[in-house]
Amino acid sequence: MTNSKLTPGSSLDPIYGRPEFARDIPRGTFPEESMEGETAYTLINDELGRDIAPKMNMASFLNTTMDTWGKNLVIDSLGKNFIDHEEYPQTNVLANRICWMIGEWYGTEFSSDDTPDLWKSGMYGSVTIGSSEAVMLALVAHRERWKIRNAGSSYRNPNDRPFFLTSTHVHTCWDKFGRYYDVGQLYVPMKEGHWKMTGSDVAEVINKPMKDSVYWPQIKEWCKYPDSYDPGTRTVGDLIMVVGCVVGTTYGGLSDEVEEIGLEIDKWQEKHPSESIPIHVDAASGGFILPFTNETASQPVKFNFSDVPNVQSINVSIHKFGNTYPGCGLVVFRNGSYVPRDLIYDISYLGGSFTDFTVNFSRGSAVILAAYYNLIRMGKSGYRKIIANCMANATELITRDEAFKDNDSQLKILHIHAPAHNPL
Ligand SMILES: Cc1ncc(COP(=O)(O)O)c(C=O)c1O
Repeated sequence: MTNSKLTPGSSLDPIYGRPEFARDIPRGTFPEESMEGETAYTLINDELGRDIAPKMNMASFLNTTMDTWGKNLVIDSLGKNFIDHEEYPQTNVLANRICWMIGEWYGTEFSSDDTPDLWKSGMYGSVTIGSSEAVMLALVAHRERWKIRNAGSSYRNPNDRPFFLTSTHVHTCWDKFGRYYDVGQLYVPMKEGHWKMTGSDVAEVINKPMKDSVYWPQIKEWCKYPDSYDPGTRTVGDLIMVVGCVVGTTYGGLSDEVEEIGLEIDKWQEKHPSESIPIHVDAASGGFILPFTNETASQPVKFNFSDVPNVQSINVSIHKFGNTYPGCGLVVFRNGSYVPRDLIYDISYLGGSFTDFTVNFSRGSAVILAAYYNLIRMGKSGYRKIIANCMANATELITRDEAFKDNDSQLKILHIHAPAHNPL
């Protein structure tokens, strides 16, 4: 094939009789010539034949399909830039309702000054691109609160810097947050037979005097404490801006012991009355499953604002078990004043003024509207039926398939292949 004949094919020619199908497709160089839309579409579509059908994708557990009415809403709203609240005010109202509905489900404490449509006094959460953006927004809020809480405290060493504490089975987005936002990272190691973070795991870390902790070399280096610095009886907990718990881990679907972790933090706080350690729950997968499975479970997995007082923020992937197309997550906070005001932007240059708490600015509205559609179209009873089927199928697979039987070695293999989320 050569690029010598660059005359575009005509729509009168049969599609595979056009010259574009006998020369290299444009790869590295932005082409000078135009081509028929049908030609470009067919070239791209044929190349995409290498991808598997989304329904065959068992790897990222994102939803792959929606019903016709959901699809219609998506197609109708493809041109809408979500951030332009002045031009598309009702889309923003619907996004607020999503936060409100899910926040209410998880126990968010709303102010009587606010309504699902209009938040005058508080910021309860944001619809995001996915759970990664949601986790990052929550952690930014925790970092800021830690800084505000500790500014000027005589108890503090001026070199103190915040860390998040979580376990090695968290998703890459936690590590990314640490690197991109320059925050220290402490991980409880997971090992064979121990695939969830427990209350005693966290107690062991936060109660340890810094100097006696296995993390001391890392802490000392990150905070750049001088060699002469002696933290005395100060504990590792002093530097923890948030404990990150996962409900529904990426590796094996297990859940950290959020309630027990909260109780251990309470004990630590009794000894450190001026301090506090909030919990963020990464409910990317579990957020749309546990509320339903808990209804009949003999030992419900407690994780939300109503269940665990220390939980201050929760993220959930609506594009996973919330059943929208990819591109929709959510972060919600315990109340409308949790996010420090200086992180919420007042934007005035898109024709009106509005507040914004997102990492991205422009983004599509389609999947946000699809999310609202799903919530009202399916209601809890619809989701309950889907989750019941998923659980029945998962249980059947586990009992039927040899490969799933040894859960422990499955998890071990996954951890060996992804030991520390390191970028290449
Ligand atoms: C527990 C957990 N947290 C966060 C994420 C990141 O989610 P997203 O892909 O929506 O950014 C995932 C993705 O699989 C996950 O499993």
